[in-house]
Amino acid sequence: MAENRQRMFSERYASGEMPWDSGLTPPEIKEIIAELPAGDALDLGCGTGTVIRDLLRAGWRADGIDFVERAIELAAEKLAEFPPERRRLFHADITRLGAMPELRDAYDLIIDIGCGHSIDQSARVDYARAIASRLKPGGAFMLYASQPRTDSAVGWRPKHVERLFGRQLTLHWRQMGDDIAIGAPACWYRMRKPN
Ligand SMILES: C[S@@+](CC[C@H](N)C(=O)[O-])C[C@H]1O[C@@H](n2cnc3c(N)ncnc32)[C@H](O)[C@@H]1O
Repeated sequence: MAENRQRMFSERYASGEMPWDSGLTPPEIKEIIAELPAGDALDLGCGTGTVIRDLLRAGWRADGIDFVERAIELAAEKLAEFPPERRRLFHADITRLGAMPELRDAYDLIIDIGCGHSIDQSARVDYARAIASRLKPGGAFMLYASQPRTDSAVGWRPKHVERLFGRQLTLHWRQMGDDIAIGAPACWYRMRKPN
């Protein structure tokens, strides 16, 4: 399953068919970048690095992970103007998050825009735990996840998100909308690790 998804995403990057890659950071992320003092951020499924570029412009240090090599190459090109010690890119699977010593121990902000909602069901609990343990106390987690469609295993309902993250993180707000690129309703969640 995971291999199929990796192949599918690799083919999308190879063909240039990436409707999610608008080149714009979503306003929900721009807001939190502006609101929080600059610190350490981690972008899970970072794609071509657009969000990381805005974090770096705002003075953050940012790491990104993506399991498609071409995505990491494109992100490296986009971020080349920034000092290497402030931006690091990892070609890796986010389901290995708990076992990546090369990452920082803890982050002020973790972002997942349209990535975690497609991992295998069996990997979800560990993924949520790894995110919570990689957040500093008081740190924020921004999640964008589509609603499941009848023809696809991708997607998390709000109750799934509550169940996965609710023990370790507090939900600040959520906001539902329609995602034209995905062709399904999708939801933003802002969560916080208690101090
Ligand atoms: C819908 S795209 C969103 C990309 C980026 N977050 C954005 O908003 O432009 C999902 C991204 O997550 C990556 N991805 C999906 N599953 C992944 C996994 N298990 N590990 C690492 N990257 C993954 C894909 O290669 C793709 O770049």
